[in-house]
Amino acid sequence: MVLRSETGEVEGVTLTKSICSIWDQVWNFQARPDDLLIATYAKAGTTWTQETVDMIQQNGDVEKCRRATIAKRHPFLDLPPAKAPVPHKSLSQTMPSPRTIKTHLPVQLVPPSFWKQNCKVIYVARNAKDNLVSYYHFHRMNKALPDPGTWEEFIEKFMTGKVLWGSWYDHVKGWWKAKDKHRILYLFYEDMKENPEQEIQKILKFLEKDVNQEVLNKIVHNTSFEIMKENPMANYTREFQAIMDHSISPFMRKGAVGDWKNHFTVAQNKKFDEDYKKKMADTSLVFRTEL
Ligand code: A3P
Repeated sequence: MVLRSETGEVEGVTLTKSICSIWDQVWNFQARPDDLLIATYAKAGTTWTQETVDMIQQNGDVEKCRRATIAKRHPFLDLPPAKAPVPHKSLSQTMPSPRTIKTHLPVQLVPPSFWKQNCKVIYVARNAKDNLVSYYHFHRMNKALPDPGTWEEFIEKFMTGKVLWGSWYDHVKGWWKAKDKHRILYLFYEDMKENPEQEIQKILKFLEKDVNQEVLNKIVHNTSFEIMKENPMANYTREFQAIMDHSISPFMRKGAVGDWKNHFTVAQNKKFDEDYKKKMADTSLVFRTEL
């Protein structure tokens, strides 16, 4: 049986105890100038963005993208070495450049070497309600995460920021501010869903890459929800079998904008909206909760 994680805090941000215990290693991570960081709040579309970036880097070669699972292709900076498919040791020392690295850390906890090296970062944000719904189901199926409690309880935890990787509100706002100081491409899940080709073009430009229309079409096709859901190298069915139970809720669950409407009661929605207004009053950041 897998034990659900206990949590701790780093600078007031909730993280798993095991991440807290290796925090020095994470904080002192040595970035290289050509590292690309994909940063997100958990469940905002990380895997989708990773697959898109890899398809671009492999010039649309589907076979090359299936060389390994997404977790092995792009190491997860935050994970303790024992739990990571690619341990920190190889991540920091032997993994050849250029590396693409994934993180869920809020901007203030990103290892300072990434800024010193002026690394590029792609940040993807998803509207709070869909992000929350996805996070809830992920906690149900991933037995290594803390018990989410009931849906009602999880909404409360999310609103108070007492969930893994901390407050969604602080996360999206912090990265939004940071984009004016660093090389950060800030994308939205909703835009990717509405017009994938246009958002892929943004990533291409940011990475200073060019592909022809045929390759672009291939990337759009292979990064669609329907294709990724069936791709064992992207849908997390090939590893973490001991902790992820896809029969409870698949990792590739719905991949939609607006699924929150199937979860929130009218009262929950009203309370959430009121709280949201207060928490987001100090930002110019605007999200769409439906398309
Ligand atoms: P849902 O639970 O709403 O379906 P992450 O990769 O950050 O953990 O995010 C997972 C969420 O992104 C899940 O949301 C998953 O279904 C969705 N997702 C993954 N690939 C996608 C794709 N190609 N298109 C749209 N959504 C995708």
